[in-house]
Amino acid sequence: MERHFVSDAHPVTRSAAPSLDLGAFPADFAWGTATSAYQIEGAVAEDGRAPSIWDTFAHTPGAVDNADHGDTACDHYHRWPEDVALMKELGTDAYRMSIAWPRVLPGGDGPVNAAGLDFYDRLVDALLDAGITPSVTLYHWDLPQALQDRTGRNGAGQNRAGEWRGGWTERDTAEHFAHYTSVVAARLGDRVGQWATLNEPLCSAWIGHLEGRMAPGWTDLTAAVRASYHLLLGHGLAVQALRAAVPGARIGLVTNHSTVEPASTRPEDVAAAVRADGHTNRWWLDPVYGRGFPADMRELYAVELPEREGDPAVIGAPLDWHGLNYYFPVTVADDPAGPVPYAREVRVPGLPRTGMDWPVDAGGLEAFLLRLTEEYGVRRLYVTENGSAFPDAVGPDGRVDDPHRTGYLEQHLAACARALRKGAPLAGYYAWSLLDNFEWAYGYDKRFGLVHVDYATQRRTVKASGRRYADIIRAHRTRNR
Ligand code: IFM
Repeated sequence: MERHFVSDAHPVTRSAAPSLDLGAFPADFAWGTATSAYQIEGAVAEDGRAPSIWDTFAHTPGAVDNADHGDTACDHYHRWPEDVALMKELGTDAYRMSIAWPRVLPGGDGPVNAAGLDFYDRLVDALLDAGITPSVTLYHWDLPQALQDRTGRNGAGQNRAGEWRGGWTERDTAEHFAHYTSVVAARLGDRVGQWATLNEPLCSAWIGHLEGRMAPGWTDLTAAVRASYHLLLGHGLAVQALRAAVPGARIGLVTNHSTVEPASTRPEDVAAAVRADGHTNRWWLDPVYGRGFPADMRELYAVELPEREGDPAVIGAPLDWHGLNYYFPVTVADDPAGPVPYAREVRVPGLPRTGMDWPVDAGGLEAFLLRLTEEYGVRRLYVTENGSAFPDAVGPDGRVDDPHRTGYLEQHLAACARALRKGAPLAGYYAWSLLDNFEWAYGYDKRFGLVHVDYATQRRTVKASGRRYADIIRAHRTRNR
Protein backbone atom coordinates (compact mmCIF):
# COMPACT_ATOMS: atom_id res chain seq x y z
CA MET A 1 0.00 0.00 0.00
CA GLU A 2 1.33 3.41 -0.90
CA ARG A 3 1.78 5.66 2.14
CA HIS A 4 2.42 9.33 2.35
CA PHE A 5 4.02 10.73 5.44
CA VAL A 6 4.14 14.29 6.51
CA SER A 7 7.87 14.71 6.30
CA ASP A 8 7.98 13.42 2.71
CA ALA A 9 6.38 16.73 1.80
CA HIS A 10 8.07 18.79 4.49
CA PRO A 11 11.63 17.63 5.07
CA VAL A 12 12.73 17.66 8.68
CA THR A 13 15.26 20.30 9.65
CA ARG A 14 17.42 19.55 12.60
CA SER A 15 18.89 22.88 13.61
CA ALA A 16 17.27 24.83 16.45
CA ALA A 17 13.81 25.60 15.13
CA PRO A 18 14.93 27.62 12.11
CA SER A 19 11.53 27.94 10.52
CA LEU A 20 9.38 28.11 13.62
CA ASP A 21 8.14 31.58 14.45
CA LEU A 22 9.24 31.43 18.09
CA GLY A 23 8.50 35.11 18.58
CA ALA A 24 4.79 34.31 18.31
CA PHE A 25 4.86 32.30 21.56
CA PRO A 26 4.52 34.37 24.73
CA ALA A 27 7.49 34.32 27.10
CA ASP A 28 5.52 32.36 29.71
CA PHE A 29 4.20 29.80 27.20
CA ALA A 30 3.83 26.38 28.87
CA TRP A 31 5.73 23.62 27.08
CA GLY A 32 4.42 20.29 28.22
CA THR A 33 3.79 16.64 27.61
CA ALA A 34 0.64 14.68 28.41
CA THR A 35 -0.30 11.16 29.53
CA SER A 36 -3.25 9.48 31.20
CA ALA A 37 -3.44 7.11 34.14
CA TYR A 38 -4.68 3.87 32.58
CA GLN A 39 -2.40 4.26 29.57
CA ILE A 40 0.82 4.36 31.59
CA GLU A 41 0.43 3.42 35.25
CA GLY A 42 -0.04 -0.35 35.31
CA ALA A 43 -0.22 -1.69 38.90
CA VAL A 44 -3.93 -2.19 38.41
CA ALA A 45 -4.41 -4.31 41.50
CA GLU A 46 -1.93 -2.58 43.77
CA ASP A 47 -2.46 -0.54 46.92
CA GLY A 48 -6.21 -0.85 46.90
CA ARG A 49 -7.00 0.13 43.31
CA ALA A 50 -10.19 -1.51 42.04
CA PRO A 51 -11.02 -2.28 38.39
CA SER A 52 -12.24 0.39 36.04
CA ILE A 53 -14.41 -0.10 32.97
CA TRP A 54 -11.20 -0.14 30.94
CA ASP A 55 -9.80 -3.11 32.89
CA THR A 56 -13.01 -4.95 32.12
CA PHE A 57 -13.12 -3.89 28.47
CA ALA A 58 -9.45 -4.64 27.82
CA HIS A 59 -9.87 -8.14 29.22
CA THR A 60 -12.91 -8.82 27.05
CA PRO A 61 -11.82 -11.18 24.25
CA GLY A 62 -11.58 -9.38 20.93
CA ALA A 63 -11.94 -5.87 22.35
CA VAL A 64 -8.30 -4.78 22.07
CA ASP A 65 -5.74 -5.59 19.36
CA ASN A 66 -3.35 -8.38 20.36
CA ALA A 67 -5.41 -8.86 23.55
CA ASP A 68 -3.30 -6.07 25.07
CA HIS A 69 -4.38 -4.48 28.36
CA GLY A 70 -3.14 -1.93 30.88
CA ASP A 71 -2.13 -4.33 33.65
CA THR A 72 1.51 -3.25 33.44
CA ALA A 73 1.53 -0.58 30.71
CA CYS A 74 4.63 1.61 31.22
CA ASP A 75 4.86 0.61 34.88
CA HIS A 76 4.75 4.32 35.65
CA TYR A 77 3.25 3.55 39.08
CA HIS A 78 6.72 2.31 40.05
CA ARG A 79 8.93 4.18 37.58
CA TRP A 80 7.52 7.69 38.01
CA PRO A 81 10.81 9.15 39.34
CA GLU A 82 12.49 8.11 36.07
CA ASP A 83 9.62 9.59 34.08
CA VAL A 84 9.78 12.91 35.91
CA ALA A 85 13.53 12.93 35.20
CA LEU A 86 12.75 12.40 31.50
CA MET A 87 10.44 15.43 31.50
CA LYS A 88 13.22 17.44 33.03
CA GLU A 89 15.67 16.14 30.45
CA LEU A 90 13.32 17.32 27.70
CA GLY A 91 13.20 20.72 29.37
CA THR A 92 9.40 20.77 29.62
CA ASP A 93 7.85 22.95 32.29
CA ALA A 94 4.32 21.50 32.36
CA TYR A 95 2.85 18.03 32.60
CA ARG A 96 -0.73 16.99 31.97
CA MET A 97 -1.60 13.86 33.92
CA SER A 98 -4.83 12.19 34.96
CA ILE A 99 -5.94 10.70 38.24
CA ALA A 100 -7.36 7.18 38.31
CA TRP A 101 -10.74 7.44 40.02
CA PRO A 102 -10.66 3.73 41.04
CA ARG A 103 -7.36 4.29 42.89
CA VAL A 104 -8.88 7.07 44.96
CA LEU A 105 -12.42 5.78 45.46
CA PRO A 106 -12.31 2.11 44.50
CA GLY A 107 -16.08 1.79 44.82
CA GLY A 108 -16.76 4.99 42.88
CA ASP A 109 -18.01 6.63 46.05
CA GLY A 110 -17.73 5.42 49.66
CA PRO A 111 -14.41 4.95 51.42
CA VAL A 112 -11.34 6.85 50.23
CA ASN A 113 -8.26 4.76 49.49
CA ALA A 114 -5.47 6.71 51.16
CA ALA A 115 -2.73 4.78 49.35
CA GLY A 116 -4.15 5.85 46.00
CA LEU A 117 -4.09 9.50 46.96
CA ASP A 118 -0.58 9.11 48.41
CA PHE A 119 0.71 8.06 44.99
CA TYR A 120 -0.49 11.26 43.34
CA ASP A 121 0.67 13.32 46.28
CA ARG A 122 4.24 12.05 45.83
CA LEU A 123 4.09 12.53 42.08
CA VAL A 124 2.88 16.13 42.39
CA ASP A 125 5.64 16.93 44.87
CA ALA A 126 8.27 15.42 42.57
CA LEU A 127 6.97 17.43 39.61
CA LEU A 128 7.05 20.65 41.57
CA ASP A 129 10.57 19.88 42.82
CA ALA A 130 11.61 19.41 39.19
CA GLY A 131 10.12 22.78 38.23
CA ILE A 132 7.28 21.17 36.27
CA THR A 133 3.74 22.48 36.72
CA PRO A 134 1.15 19.72 36.96
CA SER A 135 -2.13 20.07 35.08
CA VAL A 136 -4.47 17.47 36.53
CA THR A 137 -7.30 15.88 34.57
CA LEU A 138 -9.84 14.19 36.82
CA TYR A 139 -11.42 11.81 34.31
CA HIS A 140 -9.62 10.19 31.41
CA TRP A 141 -12.10 7.35 30.82
CA ASP A 142 -11.35 5.00 33.74
CA LEU A 143 -14.75 4.93 35.45
CA PRO A 144 -14.78 2.63 38.49
CA GLN A 145 -16.40 -0.61 37.34
CA ALA A 146 -18.49 -0.50 40.53
CA LEU A 147 -20.36 2.51 39.12
CA GLN A 148 -20.87 0.83 35.78
CA ASP A 149 -22.40 -2.14 37.59
CA ARG A 150 -24.46 -0.06 39.97
CA THR A 151 -27.72 1.64 39.34
CA GLY A 152 -30.47 2.56 41.71
CA ARG A 153 -32.97 1.63 39.05
CA ASN A 154 -32.90 -1.23 36.59
CA GLY A 155 -29.53 -2.90 36.96
CA ALA A 156 -26.50 -2.36 34.77
CA GLY A 157 -26.19 -3.54 31.19
CA GLN A 158 -29.27 -4.13 29.08
CA ASN A 159 -32.55 -4.63 30.88
CA ARG A 160 -35.52 -6.57 29.59
CA ALA A 161 -36.93 -3.50 27.92
CA GLY A 162 -33.72 -3.29 25.89
CA GLU A 163 -32.55 -0.14 27.69
CA TRP A 164 -28.95 0.30 28.66
CA ARG A 165 -28.30 1.30 32.28
CA GLY A 166 -25.41 2.01 34.63
CA GLY A 167 -22.29 4.18 34.46
CA TRP A 168 -22.65 7.49 32.66
CA THR A 169 -26.21 6.72 31.57
CA GLU A 170 -27.16 7.46 35.20
CA ARG A 171 -27.41 10.91 36.71
CA ASP A 172 -25.94 9.52 39.97
CA THR A 173 -22.61 9.01 38.22
CA ALA A 174 -22.31 12.75 37.56
CA GLU A 175 -22.92 13.37 41.26
CA HIS A 176 -20.37 10.72 42.30
CA PHE A 177 -17.88 12.39 39.96
CA ALA A 178 -18.32 15.70 41.77
CA HIS A 179 -17.75 13.97 45.11
CA TYR A 180 -14.60 12.24 43.82
CA THR A 181 -13.43 15.63 42.51
CA SER A 182 -13.76 17.18 45.98
CA VAL A 183 -11.77 14.34 47.52
CA VAL A 184 -8.89 14.80 45.06
CA ALA A 185 -9.05 18.59 45.27
CA ALA A 186 -8.92 18.51 49.07
CA ARG A 187 -5.70 16.54 48.93
CA LEU A 188 -3.86 18.14 45.99
CA GLY A 189 -5.43 21.59 45.80
CA ASP A 190 -2.74 23.21 47.95
CA ARG A 191 -0.18 22.42 45.21
CA VAL A 192 -2.14 21.93 41.99
CA GLY A 193 -3.62 25.09 40.47
CA GLN A 194 -4.48 23.86 36.97
CA TRP A 195 -7.41 21.43 36.73
CA ALA A 196 -9.42 19.82 33.94
CA THR A 197 -12.63 17.96 34.67
CA LEU A 198 -13.01 15.57 31.72
CA ASN A 199 -10.86 14.42 28.87
CA GLU A 200 -12.65 14.02 25.53
CA PRO A 201 -16.21 13.29 26.65
CA LEU A 202 -16.97 12.62 22.98
CA CYS A 203 -14.94 9.41 23.16
CA SER A 204 -16.60 8.25 26.37
CA ALA A 205 -20.08 8.87 24.97
CA TRP A 206 -19.91 8.28 21.23
CA ILE A 207 -17.11 5.72 20.94
CA GLY A 208 -17.88 4.00 24.26
CA HIS A 209 -21.69 3.87 24.07
CA LEU A 210 -22.59 4.21 20.39
CA GLU A 211 -19.75 2.70 18.37
CA GLY A 212 -18.73 0.12 20.99
CA ARG A 213 -15.01 0.51 20.32
CA MET A 214 -14.17 1.81 23.78
CA ALA A 215 -15.33 0.96 27.29
CA PRO A 216 -18.02 0.11 28.19
CA GLY A 217 -18.36 -1.16 24.60
CA TRP A 218 -22.04 -0.43 24.01
CA THR A 219 -23.85 0.34 20.77
CA ASP A 220 -26.98 2.21 21.70
CA LEU A 221 -27.89 5.75 20.68
CA THR A 222 -30.15 6.41 23.67
CA ALA A 223 -27.44 5.29 26.09
CA ALA A 224 -24.87 7.37 24.23
CA VAL A 225 -26.93 10.55 24.31
CA ARG A 226 -27.77 10.06 28.00
CA ALA A 227 -24.08 9.43 28.71
CA SER A 228 -23.10 12.59 26.83
CA TYR A 229 -25.55 14.59 28.92
CA HIS A 230 -24.39 13.17 32.25
CA LEU A 231 -20.72 13.60 31.32
CA LEU A 232 -21.29 17.31 30.72
CA LEU A 233 -23.41 17.58 33.84
CA GLY A 234 -20.63 15.83 35.77
CA HIS A 235 -18.19 18.35 34.30
CA GLY A 236 -20.34 21.24 35.56
CA LEU A 237 -20.78 19.72 39.03
CA ALA A 238 -17.04 19.09 39.22
CA VAL A 239 -16.38 22.74 38.35
CA GLN A 240 -18.53 23.70 41.35
CA ALA A 241 -16.69 21.21 43.57
CA LEU A 242 -13.31 22.55 42.48
CA ARG A 243 -14.32 26.18 42.97
CA ALA A 244 -15.44 25.32 46.50
CA ALA A 245 -12.35 23.29 47.39
CA VAL A 246 -9.55 25.20 45.68
CA PRO A 247 -9.85 28.98 45.79
CA GLY A 248 -8.08 30.43 42.78
CA ALA A 249 -8.07 27.13 40.86
CA ARG A 250 -7.76 27.52 37.09
CA ILE A 251 -10.40 25.17 35.75
CA GLY A 252 -10.93 23.93 32.23
CA LEU A 253 -12.47 21.22 30.08
CA VAL A 254 -10.56 19.17 27.52
CA THR A 255 -12.42 18.28 24.33
CA ASN A 256 -11.25 16.74 21.08
CA HIS A 257 -12.19 18.28 17.78
CA SER A 258 -11.65 18.08 14.07
CA THR A 259 -12.37 20.58 11.38
CA VAL A 260 -15.10 19.13 9.16
CA GLU A 261 -15.23 19.73 5.40
CA PRO A 262 -17.78 18.44 2.87
CA ALA A 263 -16.37 16.10 0.24
CA SER A 264 -18.03 18.15 -2.51
CA THR A 265 -20.25 21.17 -3.01
CA ARG A 266 -23.32 18.92 -3.41
CA PRO A 267 -25.97 20.17 -0.95
CA GLU A 268 -26.25 16.64 0.52
CA ASP A 269 -22.53 16.58 1.34
CA VAL A 270 -22.64 20.09 2.76
CA ALA A 271 -25.57 19.09 4.99
CA ALA A 272 -23.64 15.96 6.05
CA ALA A 273 -20.70 18.16 7.06
CA VAL A 274 -23.03 20.31 9.19
CA ARG A 275 -24.31 17.16 10.93
CA ALA A 276 -20.80 15.77 11.43
CA ASP A 277 -19.71 19.12 12.83
CA GLY A 278 -22.69 19.02 15.19
CA HIS A 279 -21.82 15.49 16.33
CA THR A 280 -18.09 16.10 16.76
CA ASN A 281 -17.88 19.74 17.74
CA ARG A 282 -21.05 21.71 18.51
CA TRP A 283 -22.67 19.06 20.75
CA TRP A 284 -19.71 19.40 23.11
CA LEU A 285 -19.07 23.12 22.92
CA ASP A 286 -22.47 24.81 22.62
CA PRO A 287 -23.85 23.70 26.02
CA VAL A 288 -20.55 24.45 27.77
CA TYR A 289 -20.50 27.96 26.32
CA GLY A 290 -24.07 28.78 27.31
CA ARG A 291 -25.87 28.03 24.04
CA GLY A 292 -27.56 24.81 25.12
CA PHE A 293 -27.50 21.57 23.15
CA PRO A 294 -27.82 22.33 19.40
CA ALA A 295 -31.42 22.03 18.22
CA ASP A 296 -30.55 20.38 14.89
CA MET A 297 -28.67 17.59 16.67
CA ARG A 298 -31.39 17.06 19.27
CA GLU A 299 -33.79 16.57 16.41
CA LEU A 300 -31.40 14.23 14.61
CA TYR A 301 -30.76 12.03 17.68
CA ALA A 302 -34.44 12.15 18.68
CA VAL A 303 -33.52 11.05 22.21
CA GLU A 304 -35.08 12.86 25.14
CA LEU A 305 -32.38 14.51 27.23
CA PRO A 306 -32.56 13.77 30.98
CA GLU A 307 -32.67 17.50 31.69
CA ARG A 308 -33.64 19.10 34.96
CA GLU A 309 -34.20 22.70 35.82
CA GLY A 310 -30.93 24.44 36.58
CA ASP A 311 -28.77 22.00 34.59
CA PRO A 312 -27.94 24.38 31.71
CA ALA A 313 -26.36 26.86 34.11
CA VAL A 314 -24.34 24.07 35.78
CA ILE A 315 -23.11 22.73 32.43
CA GLY A 316 -22.39 26.23 31.14
CA ALA A 317 -20.59 27.55 34.22
CA PRO A 318 -17.73 29.90 33.27
CA LEU A 319 -14.34 28.27 32.75
CA ASP A 320 -10.84 29.68 33.08
CA TRP A 321 -9.47 27.88 30.05
CA HIS A 322 -10.28 25.39 27.34
CA GLY A 323 -8.12 22.45 26.30
CA LEU A 324 -8.14 21.43 22.65
CA ASN A 325 -7.03 17.96 21.65
CA TYR A 326 -6.40 18.05 17.92
CA TYR A 327 -5.07 15.25 15.75
CA PHE A 328 -6.65 15.32 12.26
CA PRO A 329 -9.19 17.00 10.01
CA VAL A 330 -12.28 15.24 8.69
CA THR A 331 -13.89 15.29 5.23
CA VAL A 332 -17.33 13.76 4.87
CA ALA A 333 -19.94 12.76 2.31
CA ASP A 334 -23.65 12.18 2.83
CA ASP A 335 -24.40 8.64 4.03
CA PRO A 336 -28.15 8.29 4.52
CA ALA A 337 -27.93 4.55 5.21
CA GLY A 338 -25.04 4.83 7.68
CA PRO A 339 -25.07 5.38 11.42
CA VAL A 340 -25.73 8.75 13.10
CA PRO A 341 -24.79 11.38 11.97
CA TYR A 342 -25.22 9.89 8.46
CA ALA A 343 -21.90 11.25 7.24
CA ARG A 344 -19.19 8.99 5.88
CA GLU A 345 -15.53 9.88 6.13
CA VAL A 346 -13.86 10.29 2.78
CA ARG A 347 -10.13 9.94 2.10
CA VAL A 348 -8.61 13.07 0.65
CA PRO A 349 -5.99 12.10 -1.92
CA GLY A 350 -2.54 13.50 -1.31
CA LEU A 351 -2.90 14.11 2.42
CA PRO A 352 -0.19 12.28 4.34
CA ARG A 353 -1.41 9.82 6.99
CA THR A 354 -0.03 8.68 10.32
CA GLY A 355 0.31 5.14 11.60
CA MET A 356 -3.28 5.48 12.91
CA ASP A 357 -4.29 6.12 9.28
CA TRP A 358 -5.28 9.63 10.36
CA PRO A 359 -4.80 12.36 7.75
CA VAL A 360 -2.30 15.06 8.60
CA ASP A 361 -3.21 18.71 8.16
CA ALA A 362 -1.89 21.18 10.70
CA GLY A 363 -4.12 23.85 9.17
CA GLY A 364 -6.99 22.21 11.08
CA LEU A 365 -5.29 23.00 14.38
CA GLU A 366 -4.88 26.64 13.47
CA ALA A 367 -8.49 26.82 12.29
CA PHE A 368 -9.90 25.21 15.43
CA LEU A 369 -7.88 27.40 17.78
CA LEU A 370 -9.31 30.41 15.97
CA ARG A 371 -12.83 28.98 16.03
CA LEU A 372 -12.67 28.52 19.80
CA THR A 373 -11.44 32.08 20.11
CA GLU A 374 -13.85 33.77 17.74
CA GLU A 375 -17.00 31.65 17.84
CA TYR A 376 -16.95 30.52 21.47
CA GLY A 377 -15.11 33.46 22.98
CA VAL A 378 -12.54 31.32 24.81
CA ARG A 379 -10.12 33.64 26.60
CA ARG A 380 -7.36 31.18 27.49
CA LEU A 381 -6.50 28.14 25.41
CA TYR A 382 -4.18 25.18 25.64
CA VAL A 383 -3.43 22.51 23.11
CA THR A 384 -3.82 19.75 25.67
CA GLU A 385 -2.97 16.95 23.21
CA ASN A 386 -1.45 16.77 19.77
CA GLY A 387 0.79 14.10 18.35
CA SER A 388 1.19 11.22 15.96
CA ALA A 389 1.74 7.47 16.00
CA PHE A 390 4.31 5.86 13.75
CA PRO A 391 5.89 2.42 13.96
CA ASP A 392 9.21 3.31 15.60
CA ALA A 393 12.04 0.97 16.42
CA VAL A 394 15.28 1.32 18.31
CA GLY A 395 18.10 1.32 15.74
CA PRO A 396 21.35 -0.64 16.02
CA ASP A 397 22.97 2.52 17.41
CA GLY A 398 20.41 2.56 20.23
CA ARG A 399 18.64 5.63 18.81
CA VAL A 400 15.05 6.06 17.67
CA ASP A 401 14.90 8.16 14.56
CA ASP A 402 11.33 9.30 13.89
CA PRO A 403 11.37 11.97 11.17
CA HIS A 404 7.65 11.67 10.47
CA ARG A 405 6.72 12.47 14.06
CA THR A 406 9.26 15.28 14.13
CA GLY A 407 7.72 16.76 11.00
CA TYR A 408 4.23 16.46 12.47
CA LEU A 409 5.36 18.22 15.64
CA GLU A 410 7.04 21.06 13.76
CA GLN A 411 4.07 21.63 11.49
CA HIS A 412 1.59 21.71 14.34
CA LEU A 413 3.73 24.08 16.38
CA ALA A 414 3.93 26.31 13.32
CA ALA A 415 0.10 26.20 13.20
CA CYS A 416 0.05 27.29 16.87
CA ALA A 417 2.34 30.18 16.00
CA ARG A 418 0.04 31.28 13.16
CA ALA A 419 -3.01 31.08 15.44
CA LEU A 420 -1.19 33.15 18.07
CA ARG A 421 -0.31 35.80 15.49
CA LYS A 422 -3.99 35.93 14.53
CA GLY A 423 -5.08 36.48 18.11
CA ALA A 424 -5.71 33.03 19.63
CA PRO A 425 -5.00 33.28 23.39
CA LEU A 426 -2.89 30.13 23.38
CA ALA A 427 -1.00 29.68 26.65
CA GLY A 428 0.57 26.24 26.25
CA TYR A 429 1.09 23.08 24.24
CA TYR A 430 1.19 19.53 25.65
CA ALA A 431 2.64 17.00 23.25
CA TRP A 432 0.86 13.65 23.20
CA SER A 433 2.56 11.80 24.55
CA LEU A 434 5.51 11.75 26.90
CA LEU A 435 5.79 7.98 26.53
CA ASP A 436 4.66 5.30 24.13
CA ASN A 437 1.70 3.79 25.95
CA PHE A 438 -1.48 1.72 25.86
CA GLU A 439 -3.38 3.15 22.91
CA TRP A 440 -6.79 1.88 24.01
CA ALA A 441 -8.39 -0.55 21.52
CA TYR A 442 -5.21 -0.47 19.42
CA GLY A 443 -3.06 -1.77 22.26
CA TYR A 444 0.68 -1.16 22.32
CA ASP A 445 1.44 -1.24 18.60
CA LYS A 446 0.55 2.41 18.08
CA ARG A 447 3.38 4.50 19.48
CA PHE A 448 2.69 8.19 20.17
CA GLY A 449 5.59 8.87 22.55
CA LEU A 450 8.39 11.38 22.34
CA VAL A 451 10.07 8.69 24.41
CA HIS A 452 10.18 5.11 23.19
CA VAL A 453 9.24 2.36 25.64
CA ASP A 454 10.53 -1.18 25.24
CA TYR A 455 7.69 -3.00 26.99
CA ALA A 456 9.75 -6.15 27.62
CA THR A 457 12.40 -4.29 29.62
CA GLN A 458 10.59 -1.00 30.34
CA ARG A 459 13.65 0.77 28.98
CA ARG A 460 12.93 4.36 27.92
CA THR A 461 14.76 5.99 24.98
CA VAL A 462 14.21 9.61 24.00
CA LYS A 463 13.32 9.67 20.30
CA ALA A 464 14.70 12.21 17.82
CA SER A 465 11.31 13.98 18.00
CA GLY A 466 11.77 14.35 21.76
CA ARG A 467 15.19 15.88 21.19
CA ARG A 468 13.72 18.21 18.62
CA TYR A 469 11.01 19.30 21.05
CA ALA A 470 13.72 19.93 23.66
CA ASP A 471 15.64 22.06 21.13
CA ILE A 472 12.56 24.15 20.37
CA ILE A 473 11.83 24.69 24.07
CA ARG A 474 15.45 25.66 24.70
CA ALA A 475 15.47 28.06 21.75
CA HIS A 476 12.27 29.71 22.97
CA ARG A 477 13.71 30.14 26.47
CA THR A 478 17.00 31.54 25.20
CA ARG A 479 15.09 34.06 23.15
CA ASN A 480 13.13 35.26 26.14
CA ARG A 481 15.95 35.37 28.63
O1 IFM B 1 -4.23 8.14 23.42
C1 IFM B 1 -5.29 9.01 23.18
C2 IFM B 1 -5.63 9.79 24.43
O2 IFM B 1 -5.92 8.97 25.51
C3 IFM B 1 -6.83 10.66 24.18
N1 IFM B 1 -6.66 11.46 23.00
C4 IFM B 1 -6.20 10.81 21.80
C5 IFM B 1 -4.96 9.99 22.09
C6 IFM B 1 -4.47 9.31 20.81
O3 IFM B 1 -5.46 8.49 20.29
